[in-house]
This record gives sequence, C-alpha cells and structure tokens, in this order.
Amino acid sequence: MSANKNVVVYRVIIGLLLLTIVGLVLKFVVLGRTGTEVDGRVTILLEPSERAVVLNEMRQFLTGIQQMLEASERNDAAAIAKIARPLGMAAAHAVPAGLPAKLPLEFKTLGHGVHGDFDRIAMDAEAMDDVRLSLRQLGETMKKCVACHATYQIAPTSGSRR
Ligand code: HEC
Repeated sequence: MSANKNVVVYRVIIGLLLLTIVGLVLKFVVLGRTGTEVDGRVTILLEPSERAVVLNEMRQFLTGIQQMLEASERNDAAAIAKIARPLGMAAAHAVPAGLPAKLPLEFKTLGHGVHGDFDRIAMDAEAMDDVRLSLRQLGETMKKCVACHATYQIAPTSGSRR
C-alpha cells in the first residue's frame, strides 16, 4: 500500500519536474526576453551592451553586403568569398553568454540562417567563381534580413531590470 503511495508521489514529482523543464525551455529557448509591441514589431529587451553587440553585427552585415555588391560588379568571386566568410557561423559564436536566452527562437533561427547563408555564399563563390550565383544567393539571404526587421526591434533595458 505504502509502496503504491510512493509511486504516486514519485509520479507527481516527475510531472512537476517535467513541467519546470518545459517552462524553462519555453522561457529561455523559445520566448526569450520580449516586451510590448510598439509598432507591430516585437520588442526584444537587451542590456545596452548586448544591444550594442547585436547592432554592431548588423552593421557588419550591411558593410559586407555593400562590399560584395562592389566585388560582384568587378566580377570578383574570390573577393566575395573573402567578405562573406567572416559573416558566417564563426561570427555567431562570438555572442555574449547570456544573450541567446533573451532572444526568441524565431529570431535565433533567422539569425543562424543568415550566418549559415554567408558560409554557403563564401563556399560557392570560391568553388564556382560565379558572381551571378552569389548575387542570387545574396538576394535570397536578404529576405531573412527583411523578415526579421519586419518582426523585431530591440529596446535597451535600464541597468536595474535584469
Ligand atoms: C534575426 C533577426 C535579424 C536578422 C536576420 C537581421 N537583422 Fe538587422 N536588425 C535586427 C534588429 C532587431 C535590429 C534593431 C532594429 C530596431 O531596434 O529598430 C536590426 C538592426 C539592423 C541595422 C541597424 C544597426 C544600427 O546600428 O542601428 C542594420 C544596418 C541591419 N540590421 C542590417 C541587417 C542586414 C543587412 C541583415 C541581413 C544580412 C540583417 N540586418 C539581418 C534584426 C535582424
């Protein structure tokens, strides 16, 4: 009898633990740290320093794309590969430790998608030496820039709201 009771208690404990895990995954992997929508976009709340890291990465994307367009006009696929590579997954690993938990899953997916695309652009530019292919890939990749910008904005939190 008491053995049966124990089983029930264990099941309840396991159930509660599972719920906790699901809750944590939802909070830190899926939802991230978001606030109110201002202009229809979801606001991601980041520390000013984290926001600076993300925006700096964004400006590197823009600079890289500008340089790739110039390189493609010169028909220089090797230069495209060289510009695209540092924008690839290697850059994604340089984010501060606490940052991913604050980013919604869709944001992370789009962001990784863009980094992966730049690796692919670099690889293909090197292998195929075809700037038209690079331009087409760039155009496809930029749909992800557009999609993410249409969905999210970033607001800095004041230092106290950790
Ligand atoms: C995963 C989402 C996401 C992707 C993908 C993304 N961005 Fe952004 N980007 C943002 C957000 C969010 C902001 C901040 C917008 C705001 O707060 O109004 C931003 C800001 C920027 C800024 C402004 C930077 C600054 O200093 O204010 C530039 C430039 C930019 N992005 C370029 C790009 C380009 C180019 C790409 C594609 C290669 C790209 N982004 C892909 C989410 C993304």
